[in-house]
Amino acid sequence: KARARIDALIRQMTPEEKAGQLTNLFSLPYPVFQKKLESGIENGTIGNVLFVTDPAEVNRLQKIALERSRLKIPLMFGFDVIHGLTTIFPVPIAAAASWDPQMVEHSQAIAAFEARAIGIHWTFAPNADIARDPRWGRIVEGAGEDPYLGSAMAAAQVRGFQGPAIGTPGRVISGVKHFAGYGASLGGRDYDEVNLSDSELWNVYLPPFKAAVDAGAGNVMSAYMGLNGVPASGNRWLLTDVLRKEWGFRGFVVSDNNAVKDLQKHGLTPDLPSAAVRALDAGVDMEMATSDPAFPSLVSALGKNEISSQQLDASVQRVLEAKYRMGLFDKPYVDEEKATEAAENPEHLVAARIAAERSAVLLKNDGDLLPLNLSKLKSIAVIGPLADSPGDALGPWVFKQNKPKMSSILAGIKEKAGSRARVTYSMGVNLPPRLRPSPFVSVVGNAREGFATIDDDAGIAQAADAARAADVAVLVLGEGQDMVGEVASKSSLDLPGRQIDLLNAVVATGKPVVVLLMNARPLDMKDSKAQAILDIWYPGSAAGPATANLLFGDAVPGGKLPFTWPRNAGQIPMIYSRLTSMDPINADKRYWNESNKPVYPFGHGLSYSSFSYTNLKVDKPDFVPGGSVVVSVDLSNGGKRTADEVAQLYIHQRSGTAARPVRELKGFQRVTLKPGEKRTLRFVLGDPELRYWNAVSRTWVIDESEIDVAVGGDSDAAFTGKFRISSRQP
Ligand code: IFM
Repeated sequence: KARARIDALIRQMTPEEKAGQLTNLFSLPYPVFQKKLESGIENGTIGNVLFVTDPAEVNRLQKIALERSRLKIPLMFGFDVIHGLTTIFPVPIAAAASWDPQMVEHSQAIAAFEARAIGIHWTFAPNADIARDPRWGRIVEGAGEDPYLGSAMAAAQVRGFQGPAIGTPGRVISGVKHFAGYGASLGGRDYDEVNLSDSELWNVYLPPFKAAVDAGAGNVMSAYMGLNGVPASGNRWLLTDVLRKEWGFRGFVVSDNNAVKDLQKHGLTPDLPSAAVRALDAGVDMEMATSDPAFPSLVSALGKNEISSQQLDASVQRVLEAKYRMGLFDKPYVDEEKATEAAENPEHLVAARIAAERSAVLLKNDGDLLPLNLSKLKSIAVIGPLADSPGDALGPWVFKQNKPKMSSILAGIKEKAGSRARVTYSMGVNLPPRLRPSPFVSVVGNAREGFATIDDDAGIAQAADAARAADVAVLVLGEGQDMVGEVASKSSLDLPGRQIDLLNAVVATGKPVVVLLMNARPLDMKDSKAQAILDIWYPGSAAGPATANLLFGDAVPGGKLPFTWPRNAGQIPMIYSRLTSMDPINADKRYWNESNKPVYPFGHGLSYSSFSYTNLKVDKPDFVPGGSVVVSVDLSNGGKRTADEVAQLYIHQRSGTAARPVRELKGFQRVTLKPGEKRTLRFVLGDPELRYWNAVSRTWVIDESEIDVAVGGDSDAAFTGKFRISSRQP
């Protein structure tokens, strides 16, 4: 029925109207843009609109399409709902640190619900880009360095955004991005070229996209940059051969913003019309453009036989199918009253708090300084430029946060301490401005907004005095909301400004020091002498209460790092799953001026309790392709608190037809155990875990080999089990 209705519509469409369905424009708040947008909608040359967040405006524009355009095809509205809409959840890298796909799915379902309530049909998320260079600012938007964790997180987000099927009420279409390889941009510089070996591409960078497609993602966004010399948005091999033919993707592909026009800048095409042809030909169905899209020129390309009408119709059909599946032909308008109701649902804030608590990673806790015991403390000195900055705590990619849903770390600590402990606050030092301001809108509630800057030396002295007068110092340090995200690459991993001097001065007072780190990339703490470091990332709307719960033990940190934490930028790239190479004896001694080890390994994260792993067993000595092996291990909570542990399973293939990583994550489970509780965990390994893409045969293979197995709390876990793959495939 849908197909017949869509085909009938396509038969009535002019080439201009067809190109219109393949075009979207941003709704920018300037009269000239607005005029263009409205007339385009009216004459059918704009079929989709981005960045409208007012339901009344959604309905106003929709009305133009439905009442004034010839064919009355409803508009589809898209927006970047990355980690929440009005309720902001922890940033995606933090969500990945929870190692809790179910929680991530739930968070994105709430984000979808709030978005749908204001008339959004489609989000440009998840970001499935593997990021192995933390200088890249967009590390904040993905799941870090590992393809297995990244795949689990990408699939969970798709399920959360879309629900069981496209068109589920209260959900939106999920657009997985940026296809593909964007995270590997040279030097971590945003938009720079990407050069990936076949093996890296297939084994590391593509799997999270495949997982998102398998989870049913209705949309894929083609990336800006060039992949191995061919810009992704003009790359037919990527968008058609891999995505459609090999993976069977049936949704629509949208280009990243202006990426079609940029094919010309890349030097791929001589002019805009040929850029449009090249993009459509490669497999881009819809162009995203700020203004002056290139896709209208497909009309003349059709006239000149540079594209076929079948090609054009196939793309139009995919876009109309998305609109149809979203129910837009039957219910095009949004119920404006429900929007406020959705935004004010108190349960959303509770979910955001739980997500923030579950995302935190306890990096260090010497002498069990944390959790702080309020019955034993009289005063707490809260220090640092990010302590009272609720806007920064939201992280990037927030546009529609509402002020009641913002909370500072300081406010959370004060509220929890109540009359039990005195809480003082010193900003300490300024967070320096970026060399170049972020081109993206900065949110309200940022500490740097409306505050007089302070003199750093005086601020440091005053903070040290405050620490001396208190029982414990809690420093909130890190990077501001505008220092991570798009166009936020950084050439070092330093704590910005004089935060390290502030930290050292407070440590020198001899008082116990806790650092709460607000970050998305690993930061060089210069072998910090702080006793405790809790990574809270950008926790979102519930930053204050979540952090206070963690600090005082009402919540126990259970997150684990989704990336390796290098000692400094000079060690980049540093990953846990490096290939087995020559000279394994000296593998850890390759720098003469620096350790070859990271500060914290991938998967690291402590707890207020303590866990041990014993009795690892593999159920059979041999694995035959097509079968499975079961790895079991006993996990015990030997501490005094109910707490979570993320058990991680790693394998190492000893030999084969290509060099394999020293270890690879192939399973994980986040479990809650009571004090003294012991549980047997089971992991099943089969073909999907044991095969890899072999660059010599250019196929997926399973090699005959001995496989070492480790299960533990981080990627340093010892291999204590093994089995053999007894025959190869193919
Ligand atoms: O979704 C984003 C993308 O990640 C970067 N370019 C702009 C798009 C729309 O805002």
